[in-house]
Amino acid sequence: MRQVTKDNLTEAVLARLKDVKDPRFKEIVTSLIRHVHAFADEVKLTEEEWFTAIRFLTAVGQKCDDKRQEFILLSDVLGLSMRVVEINHPMPEGATESTVLGPFFVHGAPEFPFGADMTRGATVQGEPTWVSGKVMAVDGKPIAGATIDVWQAKADGVYDIQDPAAEFELRGRVKTDAEGRYAFRTYKPKFYGVPTDGPVGDLLRKMERHPMRPAHMHAIVSAPGYRQVITHVFVDGDPYLDSDAVFAVKDSLVAKYRKVDSADEAKRLGMPAPFLRLDWDFRLAPEAGVKARQTISAADAAVR
Ligand code: BEZ
Ligand code: FE
Repeated sequence: MRQVTKDNLTEAVLARLKDVKDPRFKEIVTSLIRHVHAFADEVKLTEEEWFTAIRFLTAVGQKCDDKRQEFILLSDVLGLSMRVVEINHPMPEGATESTVLGPFFVHGAPEFPFGADMTRGATVQGEPTWVSGKVMAVDGKPIAGATIDVWQAKADGVYDIQDPAAEFELRGRVKTDAEGRYAFRTYKPKFYGVPTDGPVGDLLRKMERHPMRPAHMHAIVSAPGYRQVITHVFVDGDPYLDSDAVFAVKDSLVAKYRKVDSADEAKRLGMPAPFLRLDWDFRLAPEAGVKARQTISAADAAVR
């Protein structure tokens, strides 16, 4: 095709894919080309707007380094990251739902014994919280020896890896006992904002959106024979539950933190009185028939 017109341009571009061998790559690039052309047509994109977009994407790339992944942050705030999670990790009824991994996961966090204090050495104090529950199969059968990798922001809403003064704070791995139970001591999480000092922050401001995430604890729960789940536990009553900047909230993942005044209960658990309690069970789906594990890549685990 030599004579390219406004009517055959899309097909002319697609025709150049005729020698592509990888069928999945061909499917994706074909759809991408069709969608970007249709998008430009739909909004009647001006050259100035096209160039603004080029400048924006250039700035997003320039903001990235080995610690900062502005492209993933862009994907998060546009809801694309959660869309990819939804497509690839639908969970059967009754299983704990999947969410985005986020940028603050760190491989190899220390392992804690049952009931350990994850606030040890914390640079910021918060509300003392006892978190306990079970890891179970969807049918309620307790899972012994499951691993729960948890991480959360410090009580000031900043993650340890964002703070040069902090090291391995409020993160760690705990294992379930023979009855599938786990427990640890932490602080109640606080809401916080995703980074806004880059082009994605400019985009959020232009969209008149706030950058806040409702308070949450992250968890990756795994056990042999079961599907690993990457999830969150959100704090009921948080002001940002209805407007999470990265669209990760699920009703099934919102938990009540209960105030406990009992001095006896505090003493039994080694907690100061009063304290907060979070009782939370994770339910894992069987592994059978699962194609993909949720990816935990190096880029994903970089600070956005
Ligand atoms: C987080 O929850 O840690 C997070 C997720 C997506 C973007 C930024 C932060
Ligand atoms: Fe987070």
